[in-house]
Order: sequence, then C-alpha cells, then structure tokens
Amino acid sequence: MLDWTPEELRRHGYAAVDALAEHWARMRDQPIRDVAPIEELEAAFGQAPPEEGRPFEEVLHDTTSRLLPNTMHVNHPRFFGFVPGPSNPTGAIAEMLAAGFNVFAGTWMGGGAATVVERSLLRWLASEIGLPAGAGGVMVSGGSHANLTALVVARQIHPLGRHPDAAVYFSDQTHSASERALRVLGFRDDQLRRLPSDSLGRLDVAALHSALGADTSPFCVIANAGATSTGAVDDLPTLAGICRARGLWLHADAAFGGAAAIAPRGKQALRGLEECDSMALDPHKWLFQPFGLGCVLVREERWLSEVFRIIPAYMNDVYRLNAEINFCDRGLELTRPFRALKLWMSLQHFGAAAFRSAIERGFQLAELAEARLRCNPEWEILTPAQMAVVTFRRKGDDALQKRLVDGMMADGYALLTSTIVSGRTALRLCPINPRTTGEEILETIARLEKMALQQ
Ligand SMILES: Cc1ncc(COP(=O)(O)O)c(C=O)c1O
Repeated sequence: MLDWTPEELRRHGYAAVDALAEHWARMRDQPIRDVAPIEELEAAFGQAPPEEGRPFEEVLHDTTSRLLPNTMHVNHPRFFGFVPGPSNPTGAIAEMLAAGFNVFAGTWMGGGAATVVERSLLRWLASEIGLPAGAGGVMVSGGSHANLTALVVARQIHPLGRHPDAAVYFSDQTHSASERALRVLGFRDDQLRRLPSDSLGRLDVAALHSALGADTSPFCVIANAGATSTGAVDDLPTLAGICRARGLWLHADAAFGGAAAIAPRGKQALRGLEECDSMALDPHKWLFQPFGLGCVLVREERWLSEVFRIIPAYMNDVYRLNAEINFCDRGLELTRPFRALKLWMSLQHFGAAAFRSAIERGFQLAELAEARLRCNPEWEILTPAQMAVVTFRRKGDDALQKRLVDGMMADGYALLTSTIVSGRTALRLCPINPRTTGEEILETIARLEKMALQQ
C-alpha cells in the first residue's frame, strides 16, 4: 500500500527528472509569469482529492504541464523583482534525496551525518562572516523564521529582554518579518522605535542616539545588512559600538545580504556584521538554494540550547546518545527536514569559489544597470547599486512608475517590482541570478524606455 516497485520508482522518477530538465533548459524562453485566472485554476486544482487514484503518468503530466507553469518563475534569469530565488539544479536534486530518505534532522540519533553537515555549514558561514569560534546556529525555513528565532534568543538572553518596557530600535527600511516576530513575542507597538533612514536607506544614527536618550529600558537594535527595498547596509561598526557601550543586543537582518559575506565585495560592504549578537541569513536567496532554507547565527552557539532545550521523558534515549548535537534544541522544530543537504551538495559539486563568483556577478549586473540608466537623463537614480539592488524612477509621477511595472509584467520579457524610496515610488532591479546576461539587463532597460515613451 502507498508504495511503488523499484521499477515504477525508476520510471516515474526519470520522467519527473526529464520534466525538470526541460523546465531548466527552456526557462529563458518561457514567460516569467503567465498565471491563468483564479476561476480556471480553482476548476482544475481546487477540488477535494479523489477517493480512487489515477495513473501517475497522468498526475505528473497535470503537474508539469498545467500546475507548475501557472506559478511565477523566480529562478528565471530575467526575474529581477522582490528578492529572486535563483536556486540551482544540484540543490533541487538534493531536495529530492532528502525527501526520499526522509531524514529526521532534529536529533543526532535521527540525523547522524546530517547533523554534522548542518553544524559544519553553519560554522563555515559564521567563520566567513568573521564571527568568533564559539558561534553557531540552526537552519530554518527562511528569513521570517530566522528573525523570529534570533529575537526569541535575544529576549531570553539579554537581561532587559523581558522587561515590560524593553525598547527595540530599527529603521523604517526594516523588513516586516522582524516587526511581525516582535509582535509574536508580545512586544507592544509602544515598545517599537521605528527610526528614519538616510537617502541610501541606512538607519539614521543620530535618530538612534536621541531615541536611546529618551528610553529607560533599551534592549535591542535590529540592523539591516541588505535592506529589501534598496540593499542598504546600516553602519554596522557604529551600531556595534553603540550597542557595546550601552549593553544592547545587536541583531542583523542579513536574510538577503548576509550570503554576500563569502565574496570579497560583500565582505567589505558587511564590515561589522561579525560584531552582531545574532543574525538571519537566507541561503534560499543569495546562496542560490531552492526555497525553504534560512539560517540563524548567534555569537555563542550555547545560547540557542539555553533558550530552546527541553528534555521530556520520551526523548531521554536521544540525549543518552549525544546531548551536544540535537538541532531540536536550537529552535522551534523537533521534526525537521535535512535542509542542509542542498547547500552541502551544491557547494561540494560547484565549489565555494563558484558561489563567490556568482555573488560577485550580482554586484556587477546591478552596477551595469545603474550605469546604463545614468546614460539617459529621463531616469533618476534614487539609490545606487548597493548589494545588487538599484532603485530608480522615470521622470513623471508615481502612477507612471506603476504603469511601467504593469507594462513589463504584461510584456513578459523581464519582471521588476516597485518600492518606495524617500516617499516616492521607485522602480527596483535586483539582478542576483548568476545566469542573467549583461545583454538581458540592457534589453530590459531598453524595453522600459520604449514603454515609457509610449505612456
Ligand atoms: C531582508 C529580509 N528579511 C527577511 C525576509 C523574509 O524572509 P523569508 O521570505 O524567507 O521568510 C526577507 C525576504 O525577502 C528579506 O529580504
């Protein structure tokens, strides 16, 4: 029951891999987003499951030819919106293997080698960032989960974390994930200090100083290390100095930007990240992994188990075997998938140098876009290329910028999204996919220009 013969597994598996190969090979020539109206999708996929099954060939065909094409392809080389998920095929195959073996990565008993792989990758990331030897972390589903986990640690470890008036400081560029995490943790709105940012999107340090001066229970600063809208990196060395002097916890949301620490340019831009107490870093963004992989890193690995470890009677055998590497002690999940496998297999296969170059390429593509936009005075650069994000605006009103986003979406060649910079609607390009060519960046801007002339 609920099984396949080895022959069926091979046949169906090969067919699924063939479909995947086809998808990757043809992606560049396919639209980035061509989603049917919801009524059509409800009729096709919104029904309760059948009592009687149907041939797998038919299910696979529906999945690969009707279901998956009706999604947005964030790994498309011309997807420049939000934060792309460039992914990589090795990571995708690793996902299949991790699921196929159904590894239980919550404990040493269940995970064995999987826990060693996860711990060593976390320590490698920590050392690339420059965190001290005792640093460590845990892999989670993504940036939202990582920021929440880190802020739970901050609240429990810092002496003022549970003070009823503990105040948290962050800029108006901070991702909603952190604010949501604070809400989940029970912080009231009057404990949150949303501070202004400068013209590049960096936390205004003078505003932080004056907010701190007015508070009796300052607890935590949340810094951006690659803000989503502009790529801005807050002045981490200065923030670290302030936090050290005043005894505040410094958390960095490096969900997007943190991976760049493995490349020389990123290391330089992220100077000071190594001084943070905790951070979120998502390999499913700029470390090119399939979705479902975020990391929490903390200065002292032991903080995680101090905060999360609970040993119930039915887990005693687990701790007799190994009390040290049980990732269930480091976060919210007991049962957890072998998320680290995709990162491990792709690093083993392509090598770390390929990842460093792929990140460097993102910096270059954003700079190319900025340089090309600067050639035409009809474009205004709102924030220059920072951590592979450039924001700009066509001369005209906010509505024009939104029409350009919609126009590009309808055109289908490339997808970009808008944001707000210094109160004005901005177009935004985030070209972190290493498979994007320079010509594709130039053609995207050429199409934007053509479209703007037709408005
Ligand atoms: C800076 C930053 N923080 C947090 C998040 C949330 O991460 P996730 O979507 O993986 O939960 C994002 C997502 O884009 C982000 O860019």
